[in-house]
Amino acid sequence: MKHYAIIGYPLGHTFSPAMHNHAFKHYGIDAVYEPRSIPPEGFEKGLQQLRDDGIRGFNITIPYKQRILSHLQKLDTLAEKIGAVNTVVCREDGRWIGYNTDAYGFLLPLREMLKNIRNILVLGAGGAARAVAFSLVTEAAPASLTLVNRTPARARELKSALEEHTAVPIKCYDSASFKSDVKYDLIVNTTSVGMGRMRGESPLPGLASCVHEGSLVYDLIYNPSPTRLLEQAAALHLKTLNGLPMLIGQGSRAFYLWNGLYFPEDVGNIFSTA
Ligand SMILES: NC(=O)c1ccc[n+]([C@@H]2O[C@H](COP(=O)([O-])OP(=O)(O)OC[C@H]3O[C@@H](n4cnc5c(N)ncnc54)[C@H](OP(=O)(O)O)[C@@H]3O)[C@@H](O)[C@H]2O)c1
Repeated sequence: MKHYAIIGYPLGHTFSPAMHNHAFKHYGIDAVYEPRSIPPEGFEKGLQQLRDDGIRGFNITIPYKQRILSHLQKLDTLAEKIGAVNTVVCREDGRWIGYNTDAYGFLLPLREMLKNIRNILVLGAGGAARAVAFSLVTEAAPASLTLVNRTPARARELKSALEEHTAVPIKCYDSASFKSDVKYDLIVNTTSVGMGRMRGESPLPGLASCVHEGSLVYDLIYNPSPTRLLEQAAALHLKTLNGLPMLIGQGSRAFYLWNGLYFPEDVGNIFSTA
């Protein structure tokens, strides 16, 4: 039997094992995908355990999408540009190759709308934010991008990295002092505020002052759904997207990298019973 996993900390929220195990069963592949909760102080030991267990591939979630980079022998071009990895292919020669499939998943439900997006606000500057911001500045050609994060140094570092790939004007703020002077066409939450122990909290209590009637609010969180942020957006009659289409899209691309097959079309059905 082949072994696959998702690593992160904490891992209570993940729907990835259900999706991948459904796909293995659908295709009759003798494999299992399991969650591995690895605390930060045990990160290197956890990775060694994956090697010892003969892991064939794994996904990476909060908070390790950047920390994994120094443990990889090669990066796919897109992952290198983004500076974050959410999928690793473990080759038989022992080399681990890093990919980013978050970017693909993030754009899937947005593709039709990209041409109408001019001013963008991205909340967060972690691993997912890197894929989101990179995808938006390279695929949407917006007029401006604003990054707001609890730790401003991390937002500034992301801004510098993005400026190597785009001429789109980028502004950075720390979340405590952020005051909007723009009505954004698209607001994306890439922080974990709204899930786990922050369930019920909003990363943007002042949403109303940042939007116009055509704004789209996209929360990468898929559990719970809706989040507090999406409830605020719905109360303002705005268009909303949750993280479920992205979850399925990034997972399907990862499954393809490991097995040469995409998820079966019925994979979304498992969430009606999850
Ligand atoms: N739908 C999908 O397929 C999908 C894919 C990827 C990620 N996601 C979601 O995206 C979120 C971030 O994932 P990630 O991998 O980017 O994690 P990460 O690298 O650990 O980044 C976490 C982000 O959340 C911020 N944050 C964490 N706790 C906070 C708090 N108490 N107050 C304010 N900000 C806080 C961090 O700010 P600091 O920099 O200040 O720490 C950082 O910007 C998670 O909710 C994850 O489930 C969803």
